[in-house]
Amino acid sequence: MSNKTWSGRFNEPVSELVKQYTGSIDFDKRLAQADIQGSLAHAQMLHEAGILSAQDLADIQSGMAQIQDEIAAGKLQWSLDLEDVHMNIERRLTDKIGDAGKRLHTGRSRNDQVATDIRLWLRGEIDVIRSLIRDVQSALAELAQQNADVVMPGFTHLQVAQPVSFGHHMLAYVEMLGRDDERMADCRKRVNRMPLGAAALAGTTFPIRRETTAKLLDFEEICQNSLDAVSDRDFAIEFTAAASLLMIHLSRLSEELIVWMSPRFGFIDIADRFCTGSSIMPQKKNPDVPELVRGKSGRVIGHLTGLLVLMKSQPLAYNKDNQEDKEPLFDTVDTVVDTLRIYADMMRGITVKPDNMRAAVLQGFATATDLADYLVKKGVPFRDSHEVVAQAVRHAEQNGCDLADLSLDVLRGFSSLIEADVFAVLTPEGSLNARNHLGGTAPEQVRAQAARWLAQLAD
Ligand code: ARG
Repeated sequence: MSNKTWSGRFNEPVSELVKQYTGSIDFDKRLAQADIQGSLAHAQMLHEAGILSAQDLADIQSGMAQIQDEIAAGKLQWSLDLEDVHMNIERRLTDKIGDAGKRLHTGRSRNDQVATDIRLWLRGEIDVIRSLIRDVQSALAELAQQNADVVMPGFTHLQVAQPVSFGHHMLAYVEMLGRDDERMADCRKRVNRMPLGAAALAGTTFPIRRETTAKLLDFEEICQNSLDAVSDRDFAIEFTAAASLLMIHLSRLSEELIVWMSPRFGFIDIADRFCTGSSIMPQKKNPDVPELVRGKSGRVIGHLTGLLVLMKSQPLAYNKDNQEDKEPLFDTVDTVVDTLRIYADMMRGITVKPDNMRAAVLQGFATATDLADYLVKKGVPFRDSHEVVAQAVRHAEQNGCDLADLSLDVLRGFSSLIEADVFAVLTPEGSLNARNHLGGTAPEQVRAQAARWLAQLAD
């Protein structure tokens, strides 16, 4: 006879190949803690509802405590014959305490059990991820605070556009990550709803008290439709979508770190412990960590696509397809957690090279817009001033110098409205300071924004 709990109606056991194909214990044992937590609450509720005796409940509680110890000590033997984590734990319990273990499954099914387990597990992981996001934000905000006065070229089309503060650039990512954190918090609300009580699909004939179980498990809400409760994995998809956006933000920053570390830019250096060398080119120091973050973002986006396709054609209610939700979800969590951990560390080990950044600003006529604005303030219509400055840029380019290097006489040749005070706006620092409004790049604004974030993150 097979080991299975459901083999009663079968004439032969499943083949070895089918056992391996359908089993999930290799990966879903990761849900063991959540599974036990859910079972303990379910048993407690069954007792309070008069369905399970006090003695059975006590036996289940002590049996589960022993199983928890066995798992913690790595002593529990997981068996593929028992298919998944739910049946492994239930069987172990029954081996220990007998009939009370068999009564645990009253009024429940693996269908509502697994949906509950994933939600319990995922909500805990979301909390971990949120605190890690905030740590990366802190690292970036600290960099912003320390480098509010450091001027770098801001780019559009990857061409030098206007000077910006390096701190301002860091704070752009703090904002993105702030929205990622919000998305995680928002998604958590929908993760934190309890399917338990839906049983297989239609509910149960036992007088269960779902409010009791929900309270014991700290679920904010209860799934209101049993068919929906056991079948949809939209909460996992939503989480993976939020994780994908988070990874995309980190991937964009990684791309910048990689470019900035190239000697052609030389804007930053990444600490040696985050880089590797080449086995053939002795001079090489490669930014492997940001490169892998960029690569791993593809992996998480792939999991999102996988989960969406997994869901798309499933009729109600539970289908075994849903067993395939776990590996992408687990790998998404692992990838995001590892990435955030390493990122906070890496950003705290960045060396900023202000001289190189400033030199790059001076090479790209980054203050051309400032000159145009200067003329507008003297009464020239913006379209005309744009043209005047374009001529000046052409002239400077032909002479291999920056706008600030042109003499007042030469500049006045383009517009007689230009006076000696023009040189204040032609410097990168003048350009930054002139953008002193909410959301602008002036160091004063950058310091205020960094302080706001650091205070908020310390909360
Ligand atoms: N291992 C299954 C899963 O992950 C548990 C639920 C199985 N339910 C069933 N009726 N076969 O989805």
